[in-house]
Amino acid sequence: MKIVIAGGTGQVGTILARHFHQNGHNVVVLSRNLREMPWRAVYWDGCKLGPWLDELKRSDVLINLAGRSVNCRYSQTSRRAILNSRVLSTQVLHQAIAQIEYPPAVWLNASTATIYRHALDRPMDEESGELGGNEAGEPDTWKFSIQVAKAWEESFFSTSTPGTRKVALRSAMTFSPDRGGVFDVFLRLVRLGLGGTTLPGTQFVSWIHEVDFIRSVEFLIARQEISGTVNLASPLPLPNREFLGVLRKAWGTRFGVPTANWMLEMGTFLLRTESELVLKSRQVIPGRLLDAGFEFRYPKWDQAAEELVLRWRHFKT
Ligand SMILES: NC(=O)c1ccc[n+]([C@@H]2O[C@H](COP(=O)([O-])OP(=O)(O)OC[C@H]3O[C@@H](n4cnc5c(N)ncnc54)[C@H](OP(=O)(O)O)[C@@H]3O)[C@@H](O)[C@H]2O)c1
Repeated sequence: MKIVIAGGTGQVGTILARHFHQNGHNVVVLSRNLREMPWRAVYWDGCKLGPWLDELKRSDVLINLAGRSVNCRYSQTSRRAILNSRVLSTQVLHQAIAQIEYPPAVWLNASTATIYRHALDRPMDEESGELGGNEAGEPDTWKFSIQVAKAWEESFFSTSTPGTRKVALRSAMTFSPDRGGVFDVFLRLVRLGLGGTTLPGTQFVSWIHEVDFIRSVEFLIARQEISGTVNLASPLPLPNREFLGVLRKAWGTRFGVPTANWMLEMGTFLLRTESELVLKSRQVIPGRLLDAGFEFRYPKWDQAAEELVLRWRHFKT
């Protein structure tokens, strides 16, 4: 297959490009910063049509992952960039698809599991899950993330693409041993003795192992009857207290300093990021994948954590 991955130079794009390339597919990454990669990369600016449009002609799959990283403080400037990079890249891909005679058969666009409300009470699947954004008293940063997710999906679904099936990937944190990825960040806390419960510890953590992320993307490409929004998350999210306890055990340490709210706010401020990642309760369930018969290889966090730690120890860049 010819697989075009827009914004495919980041954490998730590298996981997918590496896998598809190793399996003999023709991978083309669209990037604003061309550099040496084991697969082909073509320049785009993420907001205007250009020669990159030719890559979509007769391609089989388009995956759009482009978006300014959310790993930053949400200043007015970064908020604008986070929103615009996602909406504009989705819009320009629509313009491109409208202009070509043989567009990709399927387009998977990144979205996020953060679109659901803070959920301590019950799991959120695609059918009965409640989108967040209007809850009283929740931090403005959480509301902003939800607004971005909604605008992103709106820009994806509001324009029809008669020849191209569309799926929005509401992904949970995707864990791989790659350095700089989100698993690496959690493991660093554990290695430094800082991987104790993030208080209150009852907030749920939704996650997906990279193997299941790749397999679910392949599943969605193959299953022509599936379109719309799909949750990509392990079926067994767990409270932060247990999540970090399992990770400490997998690393081989029992000790971890619990993190109180004020410590977290200070730490995330110093690290120039937001505390939402660890404080918001994400209890996301992959209802549509399970209904369609998808089987997770790593449904349980203890198996996933052990495997990821093992490969993290042997990881080579
Ligand atoms: N990682 C996760 O666990 C996770 C979970 C849920 C959702 N997501 C979403 O999935 C997508 C991919 O995640 P990721 O972790 O791979 O993100 P990432 O590492 O930040 O990579 C995103 C890519 O987007 C491109 N980009 C950055 N700013 C841009 C801009 N202003 N305009 C156009 N392109 C821009 C960059 O490519 P170039 O610099 O090469 O152009 C970058 O490599 C993101 O949209 C993210 O929000 C990720």
